Amino acid sequence: SFAVLAEEVRTTAAGADAEAFRLLWLGRKQGRLKLISEAWLKQAPAEARKPLGIRFNQLKQQIEQSLEAPAAKIAAAQGLDISLPGLTRTPGIPHPLLTAMDRVVEVFHHLGYSTQLGPQVESDFYNFEALNFPENHPARDTQDTLQVAHQQSKPSRDRLLMRTHTSPVQIRTMVSQAPPLRIVIPGKVHRNDAADATHSPIFHQVEGLCVDTNVTFSDLKGTLDHAMRALFGSAVKTRFFPSFFPFTEPSADVQISCIFCGGKGCRKCKHSGWIELLGCGMVDPAVFQAVTEERRRLGLDPSPYDPARISGFAFGMGVERIAMILHGVSDIGQFYSGDMRFLEQFS
Ligand code: PHE
Repeated sequence: SFAVLAEEVRTTAAGADAEAFRLLWLGRKQGRLKLISEAWLKQAPAEARKPLGIRFNQLKQQIEQSLEAPAAKIAAAQGLDISLPGLTRTPGIPHPLLTAMDRVVEVFHHLGYSTQLGPQVESDFYNFEALNFPENHPARDTQDTLQVAHQQSKPSRDRLLMRTHTSPVQIRTMVSQAPPLRIVIPGKVHRNDAADATHSPIFHQVEGLCVDTNVTFSDLKGTLDHAMRALFGSAVKTRFFPSFFPFTEPSADVQISCIFCGGKGCRKCKHSGWIELLGCGMVDPAVFQAVTEERRRLGLDPSPYDPARISGFAFGMGVERIAMILHGVSDIGQFYSGDMRFLEQFS
């Protein structure tokens, strides 16, 4: 009967395969409607044709409607509620600090620099002595060093500490490789600093070092000017101020024109139009001298770093500061909070 057929349409429509359903009922040659029309309608006595035709058309409509039925209805028939939130898998995203660090590194890769890494637990020799921070010299106080415990019995050069900057990797690379050298050194550094809106005891730097014959201060200026425009946009200007680091001479602090106001003056640049971004300078000959002596001590050829034959420049910048400027973040602590509401903004 048509009632049985209608029930069959309902149960077969619940199946997932719409094409099989369509073939079963509407197939041109073997479809059930075709067979019904041949077996019932055409054979029926004249007076029964009209009511049978009506039931036949209702069945056909029911079949067509269930083919068009939205997935929700089919799912409902299967006992599923597709309006429930699905099980989403959130893929991880790169942390904004790593993205900023990678961007800086990439700018220098394009200039022919390669990446060097070094340990976070460092010896006094690499972190200080070879970088021309003499023992007990007040310059060491600028670095707020976190010392590793129980080092007093060791010779001072071997005492361990948490590296306060990425500069020790300059020394490690020069001791093991001859110039010419163009390297970038991204990494984590540690200082005994109280945490506040702009300081964290653990933060990140990207360091650069270029050593070759006849490297000049103009090369340093041109390189950093290019890098800052590659990072912050081609309208950005740079300016250099005298500064001091024990391992560079002369030394400079570099400012960029404020990327928020274009140098006119706004709250972000404290109305100066300029933002201080990095430290740099020409490698101090005392550093080349220390490298030369260390290479001699290790039985390596000391001549490549003869201060009379080569020169170089170095620079270092804070990754947190760059990321804060790029993304308008005012509290450094957000980077380490693990707060998803903060992190998801970078996906
Ligand atoms: N190492 C310095 C610091 O952490 C930055 C710097 C690197 C300065 C290289 C000059 C050259 O303060």
